[in-house]
Amino acid sequence: MSQPEISLVVLISGSGSNLQAIIDATQNGTLPARIKAVICNKEDAFGLTRAADAGLVTEVVSHKGFDSREAFDQALQKTIDQYAPDLVVLAGFMRILTPEFVRHYSGRMLNIHPSLLPKYRGLHTHQRAIEAGDAEHGVTVHFVTEELDGGPNVLQARVSISDDETPESLAKKVLIQEHQIYPRAIKWFAQGRLKMTDNQAFLDHNVLSESGQQHQSGDTD
Ligand code: GAR
Repeated sequence: MSQPEISLVVLISGSGSNLQAIIDATQNGTLPARIKAVICNKEDAFGLTRAADAGLVTEVVSHKGFDSREAFDQALQKTIDQYAPDLVVLAGFMRILTPEFVRHYSGRMLNIHPSLLPKYRGLHTHQRAIEAGDAEHGVTVHFVTEELDGGPNVLQARVSISDDETPESLAKKVLIQEHQIYPRAIKWFAQGRLKMTDNQAFLDHNVLSESGQQHQSGDTD
């Protein structure tokens, strides 16, 4: 018997390669989820083309049309809630969110961030890891809380930094991992295995450590 599906709304701002990985996983049957809408704050983002090509509903809510962060987030929330998603998925959505917005989706909003959080919150993570002389870098899926890039970690994947690494080459390596771990973490949520309680992430009722579960290549469970 097939698993029941959960519904997703995916928020993007750019290329949408993580969105594509999620679309692919829903289409090939590995992710029991249905994308009800893709919402973007930039009307020319390539991710909107990916969504349309997959036959998905798209919405543009441009932050430029609003006087304040609060007003934009209220409009965004209204748009999302029309679709009543079980989970809101931030996939390269490059906006700082207001506390009210984040609280509204508490325990049902995930983000992917290109660093081994809590290291390198914010922007230019690949460059910062190289400049710091780190031997490794990576990506984290985490629940979203009011603290920027600070919610409890769910799943991390690591890549090594080579001697001749550039921010661009490192970003490419990290993206390959992103496309593996985001559908995997969303699947855990869809299966009812992943939850957030009191600012802690739980997988199969076990509290996840500060860095979250560590992804190994080939892991698909
Ligand atoms: C990804 O690397 C994602 O981790 C990052 O933006 C990129 C989006 O790529 N997100 C953040 O930096 C959030 N703080 P994509 O549009 O191709 O999925």
